[in-house]
Amino acid sequence: MKISVIGCGYVGVVTGACLGELGHDVVFVDIDKRKIEAINSAGSPIFEPGLNKLISKNHHRLSATTLVAEALEDTDITFLCVGTPSNDDGSINLDYVRSAGTDIGKALKEINSFHVVVVKSTVLPGTTEEVIKPAIESESRKKASREFGISSNPEFLREGSAVEDFFKPDRIVIGFEDERSKALLEDLYAPFECPKIFTDIKTAEMVKYVSNASLAMKISFANEIGNMCKAMGIDAYEVFRAVCMDRRINPAFFRSGLGFGGSCFPKDVRALISKIEETGLNPRILKSVIDVNEAQPLKMIELLKKHLPNLKGAKIGVLGLAFKPDTEDIRESRAIVLVKRLIEEEADVISYDPAAKDNFRALFPGISYAKTADDVLEADAVLIVTEWKEFEDLDYREKLVIDGRRIERARRDAAVYEGVCW
Ligand code: UDX
Repeated sequence: MKISVIGCGYVGVVTGACLGELGHDVVFVDIDKRKIEAINSAGSPIFEPGLNKLISKNHHRLSATTLVAEALEDTDITFLCVGTPSNDDGSINLDYVRSAGTDIGKALKEINSFHVVVVKSTVLPGTTEEVIKPAIESESRKKASREFGISSNPEFLREGSAVEDFFKPDRIVIGFEDERSKALLEDLYAPFECPKIFTDIKTAEMVKYVSNASLAMKISFANEIGNMCKAMGIDAYEVFRAVCMDRRINPAFFRSGLGFGGSCFPKDVRALISKIEETGLNPRILKSVIDVNEAQPLKMIELLKKHLPNLKGAKIGVLGLAFKPDTEDIRESRAIVLVKRLIEEEADVISYDPAAKDNFRALFPGISYAKTADDVLEADAVLIVTEWKEFEDLDYREKLVIDGRRIERARRDAAVYEGVCW
């Protein structure tokens, strides 16, 4: 098939590159010229394991442009993958989605064939039908379902393993309103053997939010239980190991520690809260998921102060700045909350991260960035914030370590050791 992908962030680039690997011709669109140049030079514009290889291998099938009209002209299907950031009040910002809808509408005006628009951007239930579809219809002067197709196909890709997640999905969810769009997407996803859920557009949109909210809820639950365990001298990991042997409880996402960060969980749970409140309901559980998560990194400071009551002038090492290992992404990283607090306490912060240093420096130019993890171990106390694999190989003997991610080597060897929930 001939496919356009609008938006070259994580979702767009991974989706397009993987569709290229399946043998489709893909045209990427983005307003950022650097991203366009990267793809046209057969490289990935973002850091994601496996992506560079896929793009260079399939470069003859992949191209990129800044012009939506140019991309749509030659393709049958368009994946809308632009970002949906948060407004200051936690509600979702639809500016990019709206303007992409308008650009698609303008392009469709000039196209005679039946083109299918697939919304992959994470948007709240109702957005495709109430915002994107009207934007396309009014610009194109065409009717959805009759003259062009519209559907929703949320993604469930994790950063760091997005390529693998694309090829091995647990399920594929497709919201549709016309049979032609359904048939095209059935065809496109025919090589995948996982369950495929065909439903209405609003339900498909809701599945994405409820998936993320459920996973985020598991983490906050694990942290609340973890805090109780810590207070009672119990190891939360031992508790969950046994609890999760119940077949009704899947063991994933019960790792207690510092809580969740990243581009999805915090943003999507807040957006869902804001949407539910708009409808006059009170999402009590979801609000607690966020409250527990915001308080969790500060548990680490409490534990640190048990051993170093005055942080003013103390040299504090921070191991890990990315929101999770194998990414350079620091969005909503727990390290941000922690470093902010350490600066307020006038500590002398020295940090290390194998990939996220430059992104973090842009936010916090005033702290030190060590070349190696070993340099950080020279500090008066070390906080482990991200579970990078290499942190399992460090020598923690004679060190004071507060561990937010359960690094076994530190747990075994540190002279003074505190786990956040164990
Ligand atoms: C997540 C979802 O997993 C993915 O399906 C969705 O489409 C986008 O959001 P991602 O943000 O890339 O993916 O990372 P993920 O691996 O899910 O981790 C999110 C955060 O939760 C990280 O900060 C991680 O450290 C934290 N986490 C995860 C825990 O604290 N405990 C756990 O048990 C699991």
